[in-house]
Amino acid sequence: MASTTKSQLIGRISLRAKCILLLALFTVLSLSFILGGAFLNSCQINRDDSNVHVLRTVNPTNGNDMEEENPLEFMRSKKVILISHELTLSGGPLLLMELAFLLRVVDAKVVWITNQHTDEKNKVTHSLVHKMLDRGVQVSYPRTKEALDATLKSDLIILNTAVSGKWLDNILQENGQGILPKVLWWIHEMRGHYCSLDYVKNLPSVAGTMIDSHISADFWKNRTHNRLGLTMPQTSVVHLGNSKELMEVAEDSVAKRILRQHIRGSLGIQHDDLLFSIINSVSRGKGQHYFLRAFIESLQLIKERNLKVPKMYAAVVGSDFNAQFKFEMELRDIVSENGLQDVVHFVNKSLTVVPYLAATDILIQNSQGRGECFGRITIEAMAFQVPVLGTAAGGTTEIVVDGVTGMLHPEGKNGVSVLAENIIKLATQAETRLNMGRNGYNRVKEMFLEKHMAQRIGDVLKSILQNSKTSQTSTKNFEK
Ligand SMILES: *[C@@H]1O[C@H](CO)[C@@H](O)[C@H](O)[C@H]1NC(C)=O
Ligand SMILES: *[C@@H]1O[C@H](CO)[C@@H](O)[C@H](O)[C@H]1NC(C)=O
Repeated sequence: MASTTKSQLIGRISLRAKCILLLALFTVLSLSFILGGAFLNSCQINRDDSNVHVLRTVNPTNGNDMEEENPLEFMRSKKVILISHELTLSGGPLLLMELAFLLRVVDAKVVWITNQHTDEKNKVTHSLVHKMLDRGVQVSYPRTKEALDATLKSDLIILNTAVSGKWLDNILQENGQGILPKVLWWIHEMRGHYCSLDYVKNLPSVAGTMIDSHISADFWKNRTHNRLGLTMPQTSVVHLGNSKELMEVAEDSVAKRILRQHIRGSLGIQHDDLLFSIINSVSRGKGQHYFLRAFIESLQLIKERNLKVPKMYAAVVGSDFNAQFKFEMELRDIVSENGLQDVVHFVNKSLTVVPYLAATDILIQNSQGRGECFGRITIEAMAFQVPVLGTAAGGTTEIVVDGVTGMLHPEGKNGVSVLAENIIKLATQAETRLNMGRNGYNRVKEMFLEKHMAQRIGDVLKSILQNSKTSQTSTKNFEK
């Protein structure tokens, strides 16, 4: 009976929603990465066919002024080199890949140079390379003639993350300083060990840097100055934006409901229960241990104070026993010591977190220390009208408006009790919770969409192109 209902439902819903359902099944059944990649690709092909690109360039013949001009239009036919030391599913490379595709929409010639060779063994890299080739991005390797020629002839070179500094170092040593005026350095990290001369000694001589948050830009300015005696070049803060694909699901109530029911069903969570999720690679720096302590404290306080709340669950999404065995065990111990095995769920790291965002009522962003450089999951959750309880650290403070789109708590041990109280507040006050979710969504629509990011990046690229032209002209005049 249940299966009949399900197939009838599938018959009625759109192709896109079916695609999403497949994705959800993939996530739950935990098939291999590659299968996931295939599903993702087929979803994207459908989307491309349906012609929903917000960033399509204005078509002069249809006179549809609702369509916005593509802020990257001036990059048409420009030659762009992207330098990424790795090609993995981590934030830095994925973001650069998004930029590559945005540039391909305006027909820029994009060459991606990476140290990471693709082979059949590394399925993730292999599928990412193919995804890029499909979109017309050329993939090349350092120290090949092809890569060098493309680099010297390019209009713009974007180095991704501090680590790419080594590539720059090699090129400068072997081919002189000529390319420096067209180098833009995009930095996404805020950890001390990246701020070392090994990586960033050429930072002062590049044309500019682009950094994901104000707080991170301040960190880099301070650190390079105080520790390395370097002065940062022109620095632009570029807050990130949500992809169109993510927004489509977030705004499709049918797709969202299917995903929500599916994931919650698989975890045994009922419609009226509350799910608190922390969605990050599991590691001490992301603070899953403090979140679990706060969650447990909130359950105890609710009992002591005799408060009426829905049944509460927690999900830790992003487990990887191979990467963090000791810490993963520590988290399991916290759960079992408190007899909460039925209440706290661990979910392995996966290609897509969208189904979990759809299933979540409250997101915890608990990054410790300096916090996230930006913290993309924060704006992704907000797109799903999910309020965020975050540490008052890093980029989170520039995304979450305290008391409006969520609440902030101090990082570290001292934050545990504050987070516990914030959890209680959102568990007991349904209206506040829903309002914060809606406010978060509105904030995303105002400033954290792909089109906003493209506009911000466009401004930076334009200024680099102009300055590099000026500096080339003046060199030529000088040579005469
Ligand atoms: C940068 O340094 C100044 C003075 O050394 C300090 O007051 C400020 O808090 C630092 N900012 C960051 C983000 O580290
Ligand atoms: C999660 O990963 C672990 C080891 O990495 C594996 O043993 C376990 O079966 C996975 N769980 C699911 C639900 O796939």
